[in-house]
Amino acid sequence: MKLRQWTTVAVVAVATVAALNTVPATASRPYDPTAQSLGALGLRHGLHVGTAVNMDALNDAGDPQYRALASSEFTSVTAENVMKWEVLEPTRGTYNWAAADQLVEFAKRNRQSVRGHVLVWHNQLPAWLTAGVADGSISKQELREILRKHITTVVNRYKGKIWQWDVVNEAVSDPWDTPSTLHYKGFWAQNLGPGYIADSFRWARAADPKALLFYNDYNIEAFGSGNPADDKTQFVYDMTKGLRAQGVPIDGVGSQGHLGTQYGNFDTLQVTAALKKFSGLGVATAFTEVDVRSQMTAGVQAGNSEEINPRLQASAANFSVLMKACLAVRSCLSYTVWGFSDRYSWVPDWFDDPPEGLATIYDENYQPKRAYQELKSDLILAGPPYVLPRSTPRPRR
Ligand code: XIL
Repeated sequence: MKLRQWTTVAVVAVATVAALNTVPATASRPYDPTAQSLGALGLRHGLHVGTAVNMDALNDAGDPQYRALASSEFTSVTAENVMKWEVLEPTRGTYNWAAADQLVEFAKRNRQSVRGHVLVWHNQLPAWLTAGVADGSISKQELREILRKHITTVVNRYKGKIWQWDVVNEAVSDPWDTPSTLHYKGFWAQNLGPGYIADSFRWARAADPKALLFYNDYNIEAFGSGNPADDKTQFVYDMTKGLRAQGVPIDGVGSQGHLGTQYGNFDTLQVTAALKKFSGLGVATAFTEVDVRSQMTAGVQAGNSEEINPRLQASAANFSVLMKACLAVRSCLSYTVWGFSDRYSWVPDWFDDPPEGLATIYDENYQPKRAYQELKSDLILAGPPYVLPRSTPRPRR
């Protein structure tokens, strides 16, 4: 009798697992989680595993593997560049939607969610805008109106098709900037004052009441001293708290997750604590641009495995710390890597003194690295009672 009950339980358990996966378990082919994609495994937790997409790579007929992995391995996509202002409106008043539209269609075909990136940022702005402000032909008042129009136009274009929008990106300085006391930095704060942040969220909400609206930044994976003058995470936390208190429609805080193996790095519980603290404000969280770069020493470049292996190992460990923290906090809705192959990573272009690289989860020939395997095993091994289904906020009015 006892045995019979256990058999029933086992059958139900197998059926439940099978229902959650595309390939049902059969007697001849037992369920093998290691054969599932990161995306499919993420969905068992209600978590989207996504990637930034490079449109040139996606359209390269000579590289079909890029497209195949972008569509099969992830359940969410982000435009690495083609939703940025300089691409969308290179000439004042003339929008060029082709590439962004193409990504949104790609996502739809592959049943992927889209993280919209990015509405307001001080980088990759069109030259007509920065030059116009610099030479005084665009007044402060006109600039604010241009920003309102831009947000409204872009959010409206993709209304109903974007899951999360990065509304404001990288608004806060770093301790190594001048002055070193943390402050609102960059083009928008300088020209409009920090009030542009609240305005931007309100304009985005008015254009698409259903999209989740995010503030997005780097170096906010863990809390430091707790003093907002030198702890960027604390500064962003206080900012978010203030915006929520004023009724500004901010629904989430995205932590980019650009890490390097040469730095201090974090442990899982430190990062978990940070996500939890942000959740306490009633906002969703996400890792939005994860990559973990390493210095390309002469030994690494010469193929010396004694120098390469510890870097690959440390990179994997960092990818894993962020994933485990995300799994452990119900407000963490998505985990997006900033490109999935070293073949197209932005890292070697941006960090060249000293040269850095090896930052993604597949090598240049699309071989999965340790980082990929660690993410996969985190997703396979995580379960209750610590890991629970996601909890998505309703977009804030
Ligand atoms: C990077 C892209 O990956 C590069 O291709 C581009 O040349 C510069 O921007 N934080 C962000 C991203 O929010 O938009 C940046 O993307 C990386 C840092």
